[in-house]
Amino acid sequence: MSERLKIAINTGGGDAPGLNAVIEAVVMAAYNRNWEVFGIKNGYSGLLDTEDIVPLSPKQVRRISSIGGTILGTTNKGNPFEMPITNAAGDVEIRDISDRVVDNFKRLRLDCLVAIGGDGSLDIAYKFFQKGIPVIGVPKTIDNDLGGTVITFGFDTAVSIATDAIDRLHSTARSHERVIVVEVMGRHAGWIALHSGISGAANTILIPEIPFDIDKVCDHIMADELQGERYAIVVVAEGAAPAGGGQISQGGGEVGRQDVLLGGVGQYVAEEIAKKTKKDTRSLVLGHLQRGGSPTTFDRLLALRFGAAAIRIIEEEKFGSMVALDPPIVKAIPLDQVIGSIKNVPLDSDIVLTARDIGICFGD
Ligand code: F6P
Repeated sequence: MSERLKIAINTGGGDAPGLNAVIEAVVMAAYNRNWEVFGIKNGYSGLLDTEDIVPLSPKQVRRISSIGGTILGTTNKGNPFEMPITNAAGDVEIRDISDRVVDNFKRLRLDCLVAIGGDGSLDIAYKFFQKGIPVIGVPKTIDNDLGGTVITFGFDTAVSIATDAIDRLHSTARSHERVIVVEVMGRHAGWIALHSGISGAANTILIPEIPFDIDKVCDHIMADELQGERYAIVVVAEGAAPAGGGQISQGGGEVGRQDVLLGGVGQYVAEEIAKKTKKDTRSLVLGHLQRGGSPTTFDRLLALRFGAAAIRIIEEEKFGSMVALDPPIVKAIPLDQVIGSIKNVPLDSDIVLTARDIGICFGD
């Protein structure tokens, strides 16, 4: 490698608080080695159209670690290996245009790509590594569903926001003696629901890992009522599903398709509880509030550590790896050990056991 390295950096998939902190650390650590950094706009799109590449210096990134979102923009649609393209006849075809990215990367004489993303974006990063691009992955997702790292940045912020929302729902639910069902994000993993539900003293937590029986949920609410607790908060992960039933998607699209989002199970659960318990019941979806605003101190620090570690790993030429938190250290692990699998909540984890021990119902 040449002495003065040229590093490219992009952010892909849904945004997560902490993305800017990674960018800040990468740029500062590179600058302190006399390297250059170029920001690729909107995931991989900036490498398809090379006008969407911006030089990044300390001036642009200093103190952006406290700001949510990503200064580079992001997308969960621009996979260069499977790009929908409208042909001359007006039909949409899926084409592999990844060679354009590789050609542009080489033409710009870039030395390495730091790809910040969740499973989808890291999968794309690994495919580019196989095509010869030196890549380092940085794991991000509020869902915390990526393996190889104890935690991803963005998760702590999302849990804090969800816990704060649950805390606020207690007073209104108690005043009206209502059941309030709150649906949180997480896709096929229940981490956000589990952590915020326990911290927010929910009556019931429903997660994808534990199929639920709505009658058991209702029994638990009514058993609490007999003890004098005349209201309840039920936290439902968007991927939770009744035993024997399927996950619910927004708009009823086919679950599992890339363009189909999960959502609606909170409303379903609320309707069932109202019907079966006759209690006044409301539901709300926290949605993208969980991804907005400043990262917590934990996420900021983790993201800064990930960014700086990415630069050290480039120095060691350990390409094709991802930075990962393995307390107390941040280390490099091979990307192919991470992609293609989801990190679910282990049912025997002490957090699940804690919830059960303190009387929280999982509907099982
Ligand atoms: O993966 C992060 C996430 O926020 C999921 O929890 C959620 O299902 C999805 O992204 C929402 O995606 P979009 O930003 O496309 O609405």
